[in-house]
Amino acid sequence: MRRYVIAGNWKMNFTPSEATAFINEIKPMVEGKNNCDIIFCAPFVTIASAMEAAKGSNIKIGAQNVHFEEKGAFTGEVSAKMLKEIGVEYVIIGHSERRQYFGETDHTVNLRTKAALAAGLKVLLCLGEVKEERLAGITNEVVAMQTKLDLAGISAEELKNVIIAYEPVWAIGTGLTATPEQADETCGVIRDVVADLYGRDVAEELIIQYGGSMNDKNANELLSKVNVDGGLIGGASLVAEKFTAIVDAAQ
Ligand code: 13P
Repeated sequence: MRRYVIAGNWKMNFTPSEATAFINEIKPMVEGKNNCDIIFCAPFVTIASAMEAAKGSNIKIGAQNVHFEEKGAFTGEVSAKMLKEIGVEYVIIGHSERRQYFGETDHTVNLRTKAALAAGLKVLLCLGEVKEERLAGITNEVVAMQTKLDLAGISAEELKNVIIAYEPVWAIGTGLTATPEQADETCGVIRDVVADLYGRDVAEELIIQYGGSMNDKNANELLSKVNVDGGLIGGASLVAEKFTAIVDAAQ
């Protein structure tokens, strides 16, 4: 039985004080809703205040990226050791916005994932096809390739600390959502690739989230699908009522 994981990706939203206010607002709303893990991935400078506000609750705070080197001349980057030291447990890696705007490739996604896992972090690994790839009918090939490249060199033991977030790029921030059938099918393809790589038992344990305009209206149907084990939520993670409704859908 896989456990639902409902994660908010705040992206470049919420200053430290805004995050404190948001966590204080949503904390009582999700209290006792323990049938899923609840995570918010915050901008680096906002992590500490969000964590402070979330103390003692069922909300965990994660980061949105991590570098693959331990330290050194990498201006603007943050290492896994730094995140660990402040108590971060989860980190998003390979989000399509990093791939689109910041030159992230499957190779660097793989390096970052390995570094995060080696440091004891849990990874929300994002992948998904762009619109042209879906229209060309090559979604399955694209997500299979990304899965293989992004997980290269990662052991079955390490994979226990990986969650895959299937995020079709055309559905992110667009209000277009994959149909529950599309989400289920493509998450199933990812699971099959993982089964080829690691065996069926490992694949059945793997948590695969759907992300892309998931909201309070469509979460129920998406989460009812057998291969969809949670959500990675952008816009709706900034609104306490909407995010709470998604948590409710996972109860
Ligand atoms: P939206 O929910 O705003 O479409 O964003 C999804 C996403 O990118 C989560 O990582």
